[in-house]
Amino acid sequence: MFRTQPLVSVLLCCFTFWFHISFGYLITCSGIVPTRYRNDKVSITDFGGVGDGKTLNTKAFREAIYRIQHLRRRGGTLLYVPPGVYLTESFNLTSHMTLYLARGAVIKATQDTWTWPLVAPLPSYGRGRERPGGRYMSFIHGDGLRDVVITGENGTIDGQGGIWWNMWRQGNLQFTRPNLVEFMNSRGIIISNVIFKNSPFWNIHPVYCSNVVIRYVTILAPTDSPNTDGIDPDSSSNVCIEDSFISTGDDLVAVKSGWDEYGIAYGRPSSHITIRRVTGSSPFAGIAVGSETSGGVEHVLAENIVIYNSGIGVNIKTNIGRGGFIKNITVSQVFMENVRTGIKITGDTGDHPDNQFNPNALPYVKGVTLKNIWGVKVQKAGSIQGLKNAPFTNICLSKINLHGMTGPRSPPWKCSDVSGAAIEVSPSPCAQLSSPQQSGSCANHF
Ligand SMILES: *[C@@H]1O[C@H](CO)[C@@H](O)[C@H](O)[C@H]1NC(C)=O
Ligand SMILES: *[C@@H]1O[C@H](CO)[C@@H](O)[C@H](O)[C@H]1NC(C)=O
Repeated sequence: MFRTQPLVSVLLCCFTFWFHISFGYLITCSGIVPTRYRNDKVSITDFGGVGDGKTLNTKAFREAIYRIQHLRRRGGTLLYVPPGVYLTESFNLTSHMTLYLARGAVIKATQDTWTWPLVAPLPSYGRGRERPGGRYMSFIHGDGLRDVVITGENGTIDGQGGIWWNMWRQGNLQFTRPNLVEFMNSRGIIISNVIFKNSPFWNIHPVYCSNVVIRYVTILAPTDSPNTDGIDPDSSSNVCIEDSFISTGDDLVAVKSGWDEYGIAYGRPSSHITIRRVTGSSPFAGIAVGSETSGGVEHVLAENIVIYNSGIGVNIKTNIGRGGFIKNITVSQVFMENVRTGIKITGDTGDHPDNQFNPNALPYVKGVTLKNIWGVKVQKAGSIQGLKNAPFTNICLSKINLHGMTGPRSPPWKCSDVSGAAIEVSPSPCAQLSSPQQSGSCANHF
């Protein structure tokens, strides 16, 4: 099903093998959210659900979830979606439930975009991410929930985003497009063994959440689909993403925390985010932090990542007016193939919500360790460009080898307003990272 290149598969396999022999066991997200067994089970068909691909099942989903919410069975309730195509408008989940998609089950978003409910903008964004004012509710939504699981036998949640992408392309979107799945202010969420397809906008968006596990998911959208980010942990903590394949039209995983004056005022960081054993391809970035980082982003670990046919491998991005901080970021064990830029860290990416941003609100970027990164067919090794009045410090590159398209070497690194160290980096790193007295900045990280 995945058109992964043979070389990538072989290397992924070697990576996993190496990982097993070096550590002897596989580190996983287990323990972040307790797994639950639900005795009480209902099927969408008990509520009149019809999986013929034509019948609108909005009432069935809303009634099933209303029942789960109000009967409050001990241990929660599992809502079973049998094989078939269930067309529906967006719906809200409730606490203590599992949405279970059988093999061959598809929950498909209606294309009647005018029926889509609007919700208030997120306080850390002050407006919709792409249009002023409110935003369309996500297709599957949860606000203020606990103990929710979306899982099954690799059934599909299909956003039928094409109609939204065209509205964006034609410039006639009134409000910000809906995410496919969004949890707000929620805790104890597991998303696993589900395929996400053709999201109108971002795919999975946990915002103001804690203890979220996303594993064994597949996220697919065409390369030219606008803003179809894979997973965007946003102002959330203890989020663990692993063993997933993502191929979309925008960043595969992007850690965020609101933007400019709204994000600064809301002040909710993203912290303790783990991303491991993720493979995929993006016209933009594989692993990203930002550019919305006004609430701060810290303690991010990404490891055992394979990125191919992509724009940028690892991308840390912020902007003047963002404020906030980016610190304690570690990315290690990355293989990339056919990528335009291997590593890019910049202080001038992304737009602004409005003109009210404070040009003196400079981001603070300190403590980024990138190690054991190996790339082939990488056109440019990388660039690290801090801000004149807010240089990026303690940037450590270690054991990095990024080969060019033809010869063995990529063009040199570009750096400005940055300090840190580089150990065993090829092509040889910029002077700012090469001074021997700086090598202390790497030391703390090993
Ligand atoms: C779903 O949740 C949203 C946001 O919390 C709310 O505005 C809306 O009324 C809810 N819809 C239903 C049908 O309960
Ligand atoms: C579902 O997909 C995941 C990830 O691709 C895979 O590990 C798992 O074995 C699949 N499960 C089933 C029941 O097919």
